[in-house]
Amino acid sequence: MPVILGIESSCDETSAAVCVDGKILSNVIANQTIHAAYGGVVPELASRVHQQNIIPAVQQALHNAKVSKNDIDAVAFTRGPGLLGSLLVGVSFAKAFALAQNLPLIQVNHMQGHILAHFIDEPRPQFPFLCLTVSGGHTQIVLVKDYFDMEIIGQTTDDAAGEALDKTSKILGLPYPGGPMIDKYARQGNPDAFAFPEPNIPGLDFSFSGLKTAIMYFIRDNVAADPDFMQNRMADICASVEKRVVTILLNKLKKAALQYGIKDIALAGGVSANTDLRQGLTALGQEMGWNTFIPQFQYCTDNAAMIAIAGYYKFLKNDFVGQDIAPLARMPF
Ligand code: KG4
Ligand code: ZN
Repeated sequence: MPVILGIESSCDETSAAVCVDGKILSNVIANQTIHAAYGGVVPELASRVHQQNIIPAVQQALHNAKVSKNDIDAVAFTRGPGLLGSLLVGVSFAKAFALAQNLPLIQVNHMQGHILAHFIDEPRPQFPFLCLTVSGGHTQIVLVKDYFDMEIIGQTTDDAAGEALDKTSKILGLPYPGGPMIDKYARQGNPDAFAFPEPNIPGLDFSFSGLKTAIMYFIRDNVAADPDFMQNRMADICASVEKRVVTILLNKLKKAALQYGIKDIALAGGVSANTDLRQGLTALGQEMGWNTFIPQFQYCTDNAAMIAIAGYYKFLKNDFVGQDIAPLARMPF
């Protein structure tokens, strides 16, 4: 009955979770609201707030799971990728806790954590499966052969999907974080009101920078002609942008599934909370005869439950690291 404490601090969420024998008993997420005033995550502020939040988050996670710190068998933490200052807080906490309690340490790759969130609850995808991982910093199609045997078969050559949504929302003057705001307005808009370009990128890779520039010029030109354009057409703009981002993602995912002959298809990362993407994947899955796996909302955006579950599977393999471990802003699989 291994008891794993999971720690996540790669960006602007401070999170702690407890996993007992592969079951998540608590998942505490402290959101950082301070960044809203700046329209994006300010790395230095993020690390300072992580420092304030980390101990209360861990205490709350232990309390909610009804376990004491003496019950913990190992500490799993996000080593990377992410903001170095943010990662440093979680990594330092994990190391200090493990040292004080004489516990083994388990490093987890944040992007693998997002994918392994599919092993928190039933039903679970069967290996090998494909996972479309879409977050603020990454857009990847991953061939998941086993828990820690993963291959990136397609990825963005420039901006991430979440970044494109966040930047569009900033241009529209909507508050940060942008993805959920675009999603909210899109619900009332017409997705066919405006046509944005789909980039012609070979293979399974993505590009979102051209779309971002097209949106920027589209808004600039329309506002020049009608100063109230953004206010009057906010919902239609959001619905049309969201539709384009989702079609770009799903078209490549379909191509990957056909190329690899795989029918278990999963979604992961913050953008997997998006309404159109969730509905789009479900509809495409029905059309293609796929088994689709969409995470619960609480496991889409950054959370420590996914780190704790990844830690559990590494614990079973005795895959530990030493106290000399340091965070990595970029971390390959
Ligand atoms: O995985 P995540 O929490 O952090 C990173 O690892 O980057 O993903 C954050 C991203 C942001 O770009 C945010 O705008 C986006 O996920 N996001 C959404 C929604 N909720 C979060 N994008 C679209 N629709 C949503 N409902
Ligand atoms: Zn993430």
